Amino acid sequence: MKILAIESSCDETGAAIVVNDNEVLGEALFSQIDIHEKFGGVVPEIASRHHVLKILAVIDEALKKANMEVKDVDIIAVTAYPGLLGSLIVGNIAAETLSFVYNKPLIPVDHLLGHVFVNNLEEKLEYPFLTLIVSGGHTELMLVRSPSDTEVIGTTLDDAAGEAFDKVAKVLGLGYPGGPKIEKKALEGKPIYKFPKPLIKDNSYNFSFSGLKTAVLNLVNEKKMRDETIDVENIAASFQKTLIETLLEKTVKLAKEEKVKQVVLSGGVAANKTLREEFRKVITEDVKVKFSYPSLKYCTDNAVMIGIAGYYKYLSTLERK
Ligand code: KG4
Ligand code: ZN
Repeated sequence: MKILAIESSCDETGAAIVVNDNEVLGEALFSQIDIHEKFGGVVPEIASRHHVLKILAVIDEALKKANMEVKDVDIIAVTAYPGLLGSLIVGNIAAETLSFVYNKPLIPVDHLLGHVFVNNLEEKLEYPFLTLIVSGGHTELMLVRSPSDTEVIGTTLDDAAGEAFDKVAKVLGLGYPGGPKIEKKALEGKPIYKFPKPLIKDNSYNFSFSGLKTAVLNLVNEKKMRDETIDVENIAASFQKTLIETLLEKTVKLAKEEKVKQVVLSGGVAANKTLREEFRKVITEDVKVKFSYPSLKYCTDNAVMIGIAGYYKYLSTLERK
């Protein structure tokens, strides 16, 4: 099955031609990071305007790379939610129009499931698996029994992991997006500061990162008041270590409890190499199950992931209920 997939939920305009759940024939991505960088974060109105400017070009480019036309695809998949409303509308109008004109089924896709199922490109996923979705807007521990049977067991009560990276980077004057910038600084520093790990001892699988962010802010303000130098590298290393340990502890506990076959990282923060390595060690040596994560380019938003999740969703609509 050939799928034309479209992604426009935040600040990347993407299109891809995917075959089933494991092959990419063509893909195109326009990232607006440079445009939003000077504002210190994504400006929704500017994001949707740039989607309008780029959407047809990226669809064309993906089709050209696949040597195909819209009439050659079987279904059209598009990110339907969650995301910035104005941004989502652009991708959805493009997908709806193509679906109507070319008479192709339109499959609305949950963006987060895209982040999860893109992992199938690396190696065939084994069910049931536990995935930790860590993106700019979400932090979720999700049990996946099959592509159409997912259950969110834990989520963040306030800031998402990526949001914490972005906000702490801002406090440290590192700019947007914060994740890669903190990761780089952390490699040059030592985790000498002790920050709180909220909810670590409670029995839920929920997270809370706003207290961690505030602790970093307080430390920086205290140092400023005392005229001390702000050792950005050590603060970044300490913040990153605390956040990774919090994510890891809850993931390990749940993976053992649910006796899953695999643990999978999903979402933009999964691009963090220190996070990947810490998880790899503990998941393979302590939990003793398979561990996987997407290749770097498929951690952050892209259309390939929407194509794969769209394929599963289309198959599930054909199932007898
Ligand atoms: O999944 P994504 O592209 O967009 C959403 O769906 O939210 O994730 C973007 C988030 C941003 O918060 C960004 O700072 C974070 O992923 N991120 C990282 C890294 N690369 C991107 N966080 C930590 N380390 C990284 N290397
Ligand atoms: Zn995303």
